[in-house]
Amino acid sequence: MSEKRNVRLAAVGDLHCTKTSQGNLQALFQQISQNADILLLCGDLVDYGQLEEATVLAHELGPIKIPILAVLGNHEYESGQQLEVQRVLADAGVTILDGDAVEILGIGFVGAKGFGGGFGEQALQPWGEDSIKNFVQEAVKETLKLESALAKLRTEQRIAMLHYSPIRATVVGAPPEIYPFLGSSRLEEPLNRYPVNAVFHGHAHRGSPEGRTLNNVPVYNVAMKLLAKTFPDQPPYKILELPAVS
Ligand SMILES: [Fe+2]
Ligand SMILES: [Fe+2]
Repeated sequence: MSEKRNVRLAAVGDLHCTKTSQGNLQALFQQISQNADILLLCGDLVDYGQLEEATVLAHELGPIKIPILAVLGNHEYESGQQLEVQRVLADAGVTILDGDAVEILGIGFVGAKGFGGGFGEQALQPWGEDSIKNFVQEAVKETLKLESALAKLRTEQRIAMLHYSPIRATVVGAPPEIYPFLGSSRLEEPLNRYPVNAVFHGHAHRGSPEGRTLNNVPVYNVAMKLLAKTFPDQPPYKILELPAVS
């Protein structure tokens, strides 16, 4: 009986593809295609959320023959063209998770963009002006997306993808003044209720590459610039190997 080999996930966020990125990402994607079975893109796929940028990224992703899952980042929303950006990427074979759950090679994946609000006891509370309540409500909405996706999974192995961080540890390294804009503890709550093998996120370009949830689940900040700076001798993506489901 032949033994099944492990499933290799490659995760990277914050590509920030621009109109002039043509040719800059193809070699990276080609290498990932050879080294991994599934590619996970953790938001800020493009720089200003423009259709032309998405078209460039779709072209760069051309050589990739493995499944690609993505969540959107805040940059996808900058120009109000997020739907067009999503459509172009979907046409290029990217599955965008926005409160959705999918199963690939026996592994369950959930994803949502997430939002800010801060961490722990210092997290922003829905009190006072409507603007503050709306800000908190956005984080609650994203948390509910993540939770409903997690509730749908029936697989033994589960992976969660976000753009914003669910824990403080992986934003440490950024200026403390901006921690509240890099993630929200609210996103950690469903991850503590529904077991996952690992969580990937981006957004905190100057954060830390790894932390743990309260339940000791590894959380990887895979912002490309952070990985390139922290591990200069390695390619700028995180590989995680999971045992194949028999
Ligand atoms: Fe980013
Ligand atoms: Fe971002």
